[in-house]
Amino acid sequence: MDSNGKGDFTGKVAFVTGAANGIGRAAALAFARESAGVVVADVSEKDNQQTARMIEDLGGHALAVSCDVSRNEDVRRALDATIKTFGRLDFAFNNAGIEYTIQPAADVTEEEWDRILGIDLRGVFLCMKHEIPLLLKQGGGAIVNTSSGAGVRGFKGGAAYVAAKHGVVGLTKAAALDYAQSNIRINAVCPGIISTPMMDRFSGGTADGRQAVIAQEPVGRMGTPEEIAEAVVWLCSDAASFVVGSAMIVDGGQTV
Ligand code: NAI
Repeated sequence: MDSNGKGDFTGKVAFVTGAANGIGRAAALAFARESAGVVVADVSEKDNQQTARMIEDLGGHALAVSCDVSRNEDVRRALDATIKTFGRLDFAFNNAGIEYTIQPAADVTEEEWDRILGIDLRGVFLCMKHEIPLLLKQGGGAIVNTSSGAGVRGFKGGAAYVAAKHGVVGLTKAAALDYAQSNIRINAVCPGIISTPMMDRFSGGTADGRQAVIAQEPVGRMGTPEEIAEAVVWLCSDAASFVVGSAMIVDGGQTV
């Protein structure tokens, strides 16, 4: 395999949601560099196929599945396809998410609340609901859920997103305890400001908009999706064998 990875995940299989762009794509490629087979799941079919092609270009094995993580049936089908194609599941990165429009809490419509919570929190729950039985059957594995700096502190104007991302941390901690004795490690990652299509939309994509978000970062720059992917791969690796229920902050100091 032509890659910079160590091949530590040879024979293993990773399931990654939100894999068509940004952090999910970088993580899918990072898993492939470690020689894992990778299932990439996303609502954005074309970009998701592109991620699968990028994995194949690395010499890896990929399956692209169309999946809306807020729909139970989609998630079930995506994991069925994982087992059908690769015969196993070892790692899951439940990462798909959507951003928010800045507004005070009372201005958030019920529809907006349901949409954000439905994808950013319920989606993570549904994925775990279908992944955990597979990992139990296999005797273990690791799950990483994407929270955010918004999972550990408040952000003015982000009520629904902040609630969802705090929820992801709570869900991660409770589930981590449920399965700590079953050799399944469940952790969350809390990224800071990361340069992705989501951040382009959130910042308006202008130089001024980018500067305004960079101003929140003590390191004076945005993070890269690859810097989050490194943490995700590490959390799934045996090097993190004693890391259970953590919400790992990878944010250039944003929330310090
Ligand atoms: P992105 O928008 O660049 O990529 C997200 C991917 O999720 C897209 O490919 C999109 O099609 C997919 N997606 C959206 N709704 C979906 C659904 N219902 N089912 C399946 N896939 C769906 O976003 P980015 O920046 O890569 O974010 C990934 C995760 O990281 C999200 O959970 C986000 O909230 C979180 N995050 C991002 C930060 C950043 O600065 N970019 C900071 C902190 C957290």
